[in-house]
Amino acid sequence: MDHAATRETALARIAAAQDLGALEALRVEFLGKQGSISGLMKTLGAMSPDERQAKAPQIQALRESVSDALTAAKDALEGAALEAQLARETIDLSLPAPDAPRGTIHPVSQVMDELAEIFADMGFAVATGPEIEDDWHNFTALNMPDNHPARAMHDTFYFPNEMASGGRKMLLRTHTSPVQIRAMIAGGAPIRIIAPGRVYRSDSDATHTPMFHQVEGLVIDKGITLGHLKWTLETFLKAYFEREDIVLRLRPSYFPFTEPSVEVDVGFALVNGKRVLGGSGDAPDHGWMELLGSGMVNRKVIAAGGLDPDEWQGFAFGVGVDRLAMLKYGMDDLRAFFDGDVRWLAHYGFSPLDVPTLSAGVGARA
Ligand code: DAH
Repeated sequence: MDHAATRETALARIAAAQDLGALEALRVEFLGKQGSISGLMKTLGAMSPDERQAKAPQIQALRESVSDALTAAKDALEGAALEAQLARETIDLSLPAPDAPRGTIHPVSQVMDELAEIFADMGFAVATGPEIEDDWHNFTALNMPDNHPARAMHDTFYFPNEMASGGRKMLLRTHTSPVQIRAMIAGGAPIRIIAPGRVYRSDSDATHTPMFHQVEGLVIDKGITLGHLKWTLETFLKAYFEREDIVLRLRPSYFPFTEPSVEVDVGFALVNGKRVLGGSGDAPDHGWMELLGSGMVNRKVIAAGGLDPDEWQGFAFGVGVDRLAMLKYGMDDLRAFFDGDVRWLAHYGFSPLDVPTLSAGVGARA
């Protein structure tokens, strides 16, 4: 068969190919390693120079036109396939969206966002620390040396001794207070931080879960007094509970990491047997509820953080985030917080669009 006839047949077959698979089969048949046109190319080697000079351009032109035809046919088939797909996949935007499962913001996340918003307004940054801590940060640096009785009160989850690092035993942090030490060491003074996060204790009943949440507060500066502490807590609690009549009572207490230490109670009223925060706890039908621990940062803690306690003073506080959530949003069983029951989450969760802001009120709308 002469080259012109070969070309005619090849081009006709390419034009008739219905799909990409058929086209690929033709490419292999003509131009593949064992292909007919590739075979013609191989005959050039055996020709005399004169013959080759005459035949080579013809064979090359044949190969080129077949190759071009294959490419053009492939483009056309692909274009047609895309057109067909686009025509098939039209979406009617006027149809109602299908009912998709909707998530909610967990009350703990909501409260943490509210805390960050309130404290940011007072100049506090949010700090974090590891949940897997060492006993130096969790205890020793907080003035709880080995054998200190307060260590025993924490029902600590320890890791096996083989996992000790640099002579320090590893544990799940029992409170957020070690972030105080990490903040001082990492950033020096002055400091204004809150540190919200998970903490762990081996304890479990209706009001205790092995994992729960705390928020730590720490201010380190010059000339800091208990007055600053009380104002800060009052301002925070009024903004958080969205009530101007929040009344605090400071009671002397003991924490190893603060000196003096104060336990902070907040006044509530008994309304139909329910506790409603607000008013002095000393008024008739009122009482005091213990809410948080705080105090002036112990000199030894400031020194453990690498700062000079003659130069820097500060206050600290720690409060349960889950407890704050229960008091504001009315849940009464802590364990349900961590069950992951979607019915509970749908009921107590918050809209992702309801971002707490001071201007709109930090509390979520029902
Ligand atoms: N770390 C304490 C606890 O978990 C709470 C606490 C009390 C934190 C007093 C403080 C503080 O910063 O000053 O029980």
